[in-house]
Amino acid sequence: MNFIPAEKTSFLQEVVLGLSNRPKRLTPKWFYDKRGAKLFEQICDLPEYYLTRSESSILETAAVEISEYLGPEVILIEYGSGAMSKVRTLLDSLDKPQALIAIDVADEQLLQASDTLGVEYSDLTVHPIVGDFTSSFDLPLWASAGKRLCAFFPGSTIGNFEPDDAEVLLRSMHNVVGHGGAAIIGVDLKKDKSVLEAAYNDASGISEKFNKNLLDRINRELKGNAQLDQFKHIAPYNEDKGRIEMHLVSLCEQMLTVSNYHFPLKPNETIHTENSYKYTVEEFQALAKSASFAPTAVWVDENQLFSVHLLTRA
Ligand code: SAH
Ligand code: TRP
Repeated sequence: MNFIPAEKTSFLQEVVLGLSNRPKRLTPKWFYDKRGAKLFEQICDLPEYYLTRSESSILETAAVEISEYLGPEVILIEYGSGAMSKVRTLLDSLDKPQALIAIDVADEQLLQASDTLGVEYSDLTVHPIVGDFTSSFDLPLWASAGKRLCAFFPGSTIGNFEPDDAEVLLRSMHNVVGHGGAAIIGVDLKKDKSVLEAAYNDASGISEKFNKNLLDRINRELKGNAQLDQFKHIAPYNEDKGRIEMHLVSLCEQMLTVSNYHFPLKPNETIHTENSYKYTVEEFQALAKSASFAPTAVWVDENQLFSVHLLTRA
């Protein structure tokens, strides 16, 4: 009998469902266990991964303007807050920010980053919510009635959703921020294939480790038998669909066992682990409009690599 603790059952269900699919696939939100969150922080520092540097520099340049748009006493709601490094730029320039509500599935990193931030910003209420932001979540009572709410969703994590699902997520964000609310969204731009592919397939192999950590996590938490050296990481840019596609390719014929389930893999068969959609400024503004947001301002870095959008709710 293979015993899997209750909190792991949704992980098991999603893995079994995904691996029963053709082509096989896994859901990216499971990338971020303790090890995955650490590896992602290393990705952010890679020379090839221009996204983090570009977005941080845009936020620094735009911070004063953003704070003028938002006004005083804003409550920020950060989606997929990770290490919470980018939000500091906003907190430093906003006029008397009231609180930061941060929601992330990576529980350990979320609680630790919230504690650190709370000490550094002693006047700020930091309220972590461990959970999936694609499901409904409750805001604390003090964050409703008449407060100015602004969602903050950096890292181009929005690009990890299918455009239809991204629209659904934006629509729910539109609901969450309520009347007079706003959203600041970081979105990676379409660009040369070679620049994109290098960012997701770095020379030092950290992206590969990050991708393979999903199998490692399945081994550790769901009694899997994956041998990591029997898989290869690939991340080609699909120009037609405007997305980087991350896969784990089976290098041989093998049987992947997860708990009591068995999944045969042929040589070169792939498990699709993640997409990262890229948008032009106009494409993303159209998506935001379809979710009822008004595109209000947009900032792009001098190399035109990344964009930060300010969306408002009329
Ligand atoms: N905001 C940070 C981290 C981006 S990585 C940055 O810009 O660098 C994406 C983050 O989103 C991870 O911390 C991951 O745990 C979280 N995440 C991904 N999907 C999620 C979901 N469905 N619900 C909640 N958090 C999610
Ligand atoms: N949200 C990140 C992105 O789309 C996720 C990511 C970055 C990623 N690098 C990766 C996922 C490498 C897997 C492998 O840019």
